[in-house]
Amino acid sequence: MYLSQLINAFGFLATFGIISPKLNFIQIEKDKLSNFDWLKTELELLKSNDMLRTPLCIDSAQGPVVSIGGEEKVLFCSNNYLNLANDPVIVAAAEKSLKKFGYGSAASRLLSGTMAPHIELEGAIANLLEKQATLVFGSGFTTNQALIKTLPQKGDLLLLDKLDHASIMDAGQNCAADFRTYRRGDDEKLEKLLASEKYNRKFIITESIFSMDGDFAELAKLVELKNKYSAILIVDEAHALGCMGKDGAGLSSKLGLLGEIDIIVGTFSKAAGCTGGFLASEKCVVDYLINKARDFIYTTAPASANCAAAKAAIEIFKAQPQRRQRLKENADYLRSRFKKLGLNVGQSQSHIVPVIIGDNKKTLEISKKLFEAGFAAVAIRPPTVAIGSARLRISLQCDHTKEQIDSLCEAIENARK
Ligand SMILES: Cc1ncc(COP(=O)(O)O)c(C=O)c1O
Repeated sequence: MYLSQLINAFGFLATFGIISPKLNFIQIEKDKLSNFDWLKTELELLKSNDMLRTPLCIDSAQGPVVSIGGEEKVLFCSNNYLNLANDPVIVAAAEKSLKKFGYGSAASRLLSGTMAPHIELEGAIANLLEKQATLVFGSGFTTNQALIKTLPQKGDLLLLDKLDHASIMDAGQNCAADFRTYRRGDDEKLEKLLASEKYNRKFIITESIFSMDGDFAELAKLVELKNKYSAILIVDEAHALGCMGKDGAGLSSKLGLLGEIDIIVGTFSKAAGCTGGFLASEKCVVDYLINKARDFIYTTAPASANCAAAKAAIEIFKAQPQRRQRLKENADYLRSRFKKLGLNVGQSQSHIVPVIIGDNKKTLEISKKLFEAGFAAVAIRPPTVAIGSARLRISLQCDHTKEQIDSLCEAIENARK
């Protein structure tokens, strides 16, 4: 309000020739500001509902302890589960690749952007997940877009868990197939949808570990249903890759179901400590996507140094199972401590342990108090989670110490008072 009055005053003075040199500049600024008033109103609305989000800025390398605004904070909200984001082996792999291949990939994968590190990484994932072929993308989000917007077609049915990640939901809403959601455990509804005869093909898509609740999908049940109804099962292992299963191959591997999953999606942005996404399946699926998926075709290939780093991460998954063991021990310890404190951790079974508070404002307040006490644990609010289920999403790293976990418990106890 004050700013617009100021602009008007400038306009008035300019009209009488008093400040003419600045007139054009001021006039343009005025137009720009007024063009975006509607956004300011929406942002104000978000703020008044305690839903406004602003990113933290970390001014150190990633790890269990980071620097934020020059102060050390114990980080309990990152996906750096195996502490690889700043691991010397990963950094060295990226550096070695940078020296040989430079930084940019300079073109899309189908032009001249596919470089040796992309192919080597695809080979390593195929090997890890025991699949014929894999395809690497710039992110896990893009992977889901490419896959889900391309494979299911008009006349097909797409079934998504209600709590699937936004990258799955958005793609589902934008694909040509019919799109339905099911609530986990509501097998009756799922089975009824699968039994419908009006569709050509049916696809079921689930996360393996749910990102905001840390619980597991009922993969054995989904495999049983997909076999009964000849459906295609796609499992997004974003939060499980590296953290469980043989050599870190994920939850499907841990449950002995790897061979039953038609398409596995994953990301290097979490336990692998890098960035980029991938899918793994039969060769014809990969070949089809290479030819048809717009999210693959019309974007520049990921940086080759990132692929070299991700391949090094897969090697660490295999060589250092003790990281997975420490992560699990930390998660079990934290969960049992939280339960003793009477905190609502939902159905968490993994290294993601929510503290469900409910109210947005209260969650923000607790997060702020934790920050003041030296812990970063961002408040997760709608629309990321359902209205009334705001939470702290506590995520563990294998190198968090028991002392850090104990101090977090103490800080949460104090913050709730
Ligand atoms: C289940 C799931 N799939 C996909 C993604 C997207 O992965 P990326 O961060 O690599 O884009 C995420 C990330 O938050 C996720 O939780």
